[in-house]
Amino acid sequence: MELKEKISREFESRFGEGGVFYASAGRINLIGEHTDYNGGFVFPGAIDKVIMAELKSNGSEKVRVYSIDIKDYAEFGLAEEDAPSQSWARYIFGVCREIIKRGGKVEGFDAVFAGNVPLGAGLSSSAALESCFAFALNDMFNGGSIDKFELARIGQSTEHNYCGVNCGIMDQFASVFGRKDHLMRLDCRSMEYEYFPFKPEGYKLVLLDSVVKHELADSPYNKRRESCERVAKRLGVETLRDATMEMLEAAKADISAEDYSRAKFVIEEKQRVLDVCDALVAGDYETVGKRMYETHEGLSKDYEVSCEELDYLNDIARECGVTGSRIMGGGFGGCTINLVKDELLEPFVEKARKDFAARYGHEPKIYEVIISDGARKL
Ligand code: GLA
Repeated sequence: MELKEKISREFESRFGEGGVFYASAGRINLIGEHTDYNGGFVFPGAIDKVIMAELKSNGSEKVRVYSIDIKDYAEFGLAEEDAPSQSWARYIFGVCREIIKRGGKVEGFDAVFAGNVPLGAGLSSSAALESCFAFALNDMFNGGSIDKFELARIGQSTEHNYCGVNCGIMDQFASVFGRKDHLMRLDCRSMEYEYFPFKPEGYKLVLLDSVVKHELADSPYNKRRESCERVAKRLGVETLRDATMEMLEAAKADISAEDYSRAKFVIEEKQRVLDVCDALVAGDYETVGKRMYETHEGLSKDYEVSCEELDYLNDIARECGVTGSRIMGGGFGGCTINLVKDELLEPFVEKARKDFAARYGHEPKIYEVIISDGARKL
């Protein structure tokens, strides 16, 4: 059944007459990983996998919401002490609270939601959920007066204050600002962004999902961020965006070996994003791919957010002559993103399925990437 129909039936049976539909997207990131909270560049795009919700104001001060995928219901008030116990519902509660904290309006509403963004695959299903509700509540109760950057920040603050992840802005930005057939280069220091048409002739972008799950809350993710902040402080810069390898080398003696490696990756990754943007404009996919492999290497060896399964998928890509391949997103499981020549796609995917299954007992999941629109009313 179509997502929309499924939601509509559930909504009607729980809450009666229908409401309004909204959706927001998961994201990919071509390059620029762990750079967002360092004031660097990212290069994401929204994808055709979404979280969709039907909402209707209910005239009370309570939110009543049902998740079709989790098969769970939550009911909560809108004051700080009303936080629901279910972690999935805290994303929605957090969005309500963050809007209210900014002086926006949220009243009671009923909602049903579902999605097809794979969970735990590094495609930002949580950002899609936050952006979907932020967009919806802005439309329903605030006449659309909250600007798009603030909607993204509302999602990000929800992660910080209600879900325990000190994430950067990339995922929520991509989910809110996504545009069909375009990637976006965001400068996370100035928040300037630019749309880049992305329809590589003769190539496909494909994700190989290791189906290894990561849990970012209380996780090594926050520790990576702390390392970067420590080094920035030591170098006397606001974020690592303003640091160079020369500065890092000069301070090497005062920095732990671990923090040094983390900072080295971030400083190198900054330049890779810019290189990839230039290469894309020039149609030079070989350079795009080369930088992707370098990012994988850095994320695996210096930033240490890869895992055996993802390194193995990356090795297979290399062996098959895939143009570019790397771990995508926060790490600790999830997907590799692969830039593959059309004619190589099938043999590559076949080999990855077979070899991965032989080693780990299950096949990776395969998703072809289709770059699509972000948050919207349907
Ligand atoms: C997660 C975070 C993002 C970003 C990436 C790594 O997806 O939510 O803010 O830091 O990891 O690039």
